[in-house]
Amino acid sequence: MTSLFEPVTAGALHLKNRIVMAPLTRNRSPNAVPTPLAITYYAQRATAGLLVTEATAISHQGQGYADVPGLYAPEQLAAWRRVTEAVHAAGGCIVTQLWHVGRVSHTELQLDGAAPVAPSAITAKTKTVLIHDGVPAFVDTSPPRALRLDELPGIVDDYRRAAKAAVDVAGFDGVELHGANGYLLDQFLKTGSNHRTDAYGGSIENRARLLLEATRAVVEAVGGGRVGIRLSPVTPANDIVDVDPQPLLEYVVRALAPMGLAYVHIIEGATGGPREIGDRPFDYAALKQAYRSAGGTGAWMVNNGYDRALADQAVNHGADLVAFGRPYIANPDLVHRLREGLPLATGDKTTWYGGGAKGYTDYPAVEEAAAAAS
Ligand SMILES: Cc1cc2nc3c(=O)[nH]c(=O)nc-3n(C[C@H](O)[C@H](O)[C@H](O)COP(=O)(O)O)c2cc1C
Repeated sequence: MTSLFEPVTAGALHLKNRIVMAPLTRNRSPNAVPTPLAITYYAQRATAGLLVTEATAISHQGQGYADVPGLYAPEQLAAWRRVTEAVHAAGGCIVTQLWHVGRVSHTELQLDGAAPVAPSAITAKTKTVLIHDGVPAFVDTSPPRALRLDELPGIVDDYRRAAKAAVDVAGFDGVELHGANGYLLDQFLKTGSNHRTDAYGGSIENRARLLLEATRAVVEAVGGGRVGIRLSPVTPANDIVDVDPQPLLEYVVRALAPMGLAYVHIIEGATGGPREIGDRPFDYAALKQAYRSAGGTGAWMVNNGYDRALADQAVNHGADLVAFGRPYIANPDLVHRLREGLPLATGDKTTWYGGGAKGYTDYPAVEEAAAAAS
């Protein structure tokens, strides 16, 4: 029996347990620069085997929400450096999630009010977050323009540059490409958002091309052992859909197999929603088998709706890592609580996106709560 609390190696990452803090956007980085509160927030959670930061933009064009951080300016990297130093001092391991939102953006967030970019000029029927006078508001995304073929190498370069800076300058232990939840790489993958007729549209091979090029570039920049990738085969998040996700995702993981990645991170079902959706269940065991039989050696990370019992079951059925998202918001000492079977605190949803310390760094660990009560 494998335990959630046993150490595991994921590529070049030596993790003290199998519990991962999933990426959580918190919209508390004005001008895309994390504040000192982020240092406290991540250090408080450093008992996780691995922390994956909130999604972090690789370029200004990759920005899609108010006050989310970036990796493309010196002051952003310097601020992240203080976060990674604090996490390391607390004995933790931390990677950053590399983000290009594609069409899930708003002209207000783009340079010179430009239109967001996408594989095809199809508006996502979804919302983004703008903050005016400190008040967050959900607004419709702006109509995107289709990326020209000659712009794609520049986007791959942005991934490469951001990954290298994240490791070399900001001090991260590695990076996770955000290939999930209806953002740029997922938009290219899936038929609902990709109607291109060039080498990046049409067949599965063509739709997977940008994601694989970006991953290869990042692997070249920092070494495969420091690279993970997040995929969400069937989530409808951000108006994303594919007519036939099983062969698409199996192709993707087979192509990733030779890259020597640290891990593959799979969101099972609808992100933050049901684990099973639609009338044709996705076969996650077949997906993992496709990766392993193609020689993939990265750790297999699962996410979505896990609790202790489901996580125990997953590691006993061969998952190497389990990522917890919402539970990490209000339980900085989640590892301790899971190990001891202690009750979990529930977070305040009104402080998920935007604001300050409230609902961010003020959730106590169990011992702190007990001390305060006595
Ligand atoms: C407030 C919030 C912010 C999130 N931000 C991100 C993000 O930046 N990147 C990402 O890939 N997923 C993001 N997610 C999805 C979570 O990582 C996770 O997949 C989801 O919450 C399901 O896991 P859970 O059931 O353990 O919460 C976010 C979820 C929440 C609730």
